[in-house]
Amino acid sequence: MTSANDKAPVITVDGPSGVGKGTLCQWLALRLGWRLLDSGALYRLTALAARHRDLPLDEESRVAAVAAELDVKFVTTDGNGSLRVILDGVDVGAALRGESVGNAASRVAALPAVRAALLQRQRDFRRPPGLIADGRDMGTVVFPDAELKLFLTASAGERARRRHKQLSEQGLDANLKCLVGEIAERDARDTQRATAPLKPAADAEVLDTTRLSIADVCAWALALALQRLNCPENL
Ligand code: DC
Repeated sequence: MTSANDKAPVITVDGPSGVGKGTLCQWLALRLGWRLLDSGALYRLTALAARHRDLPLDEESRVAAVAAELDVKFVTTDGNGSLRVILDGVDVGAALRGESVGNAASRVAALPAVRAALLQRQRDFRRPPGLIADGRDMGTVVFPDAELKLFLTASAGERARRRHKQLSEQGLDANLKCLVGEIAERDARDTQRATAPLKPAADAEVLDTTRLSIADVCAWALALALQRLNCPENL
C-alpha cells in the first residue's frame, strides 16, 4: 500500500567522499524547505556504536544488529540547519565527522546485512513536503523512483583538498597527504563492493565539480530542481 509519504518528492545526491554533497544538500534542503537525509551519518553511527561495544567491524551479523537498533536522535539547533547527533544519549557530533570514523563507516557499509538493516530507516525520512537524500546509493537502491537524481564527481586531489579545508575549519587534525591516500582507499572500497556500489543511476544528471565553486554547483542543482519538480522555493 502506498502512503502520502511514499509520494513525497525526493532529490537524490550521490557521489564519492569529499565531493561536496553535504554542503549542496544542506543548502538545497534549506532553500526548498525540505527534509534532509545524511545517509553517511547512519553508516558512521553504526561504526561508532560497534566501536563503543568493542565489536570487530567484520562481524557482519552483530554489526547489522547494532545498525538495526541504533538509538539515535537528530536535533536541529538553529535556523541554519545545524544538527546535533545524539547516539545512546550522548552528543557524538565531532567524533562522527573524523576521518577514522569515516574509514570505519566505509568498512561496515560494505557488509550487505548492515545495508539491509539501514534501508527502511532511510526510506522513513521520505515525508512531505520533500526529501534531499545524500549518499552513495540514494538514486540506485534507496530511492530508485526519485524525481531528480544528481551525481557529483571531482578529481581525488581536489576532494582531498576540500576535505582538508573542511576539517581544518572544524578544528580537526588533518594531513593533506594522508587524506589523498585515505580518499583513494575509500573510493576503491565504495566503488568495488558487491552490494550497492557507488555509481550514478542510469537516469542521473552527472556534474564534474573539479573546477566549479560551491555557488556554481548549487545554482546547477536548483535550476534542475525547479525545472523538474515545479516546486516553490522556500524564500
Ligand atoms: O558520506 P560519508 O563520508 O559520511 O560516508 C561515510 C561512508 O559510508 C562512506 O565511505 C561510504 C559509506 N556510505 C555508503 O556506503 N552508502 C551511503 N548511502 C552513504 C555512505
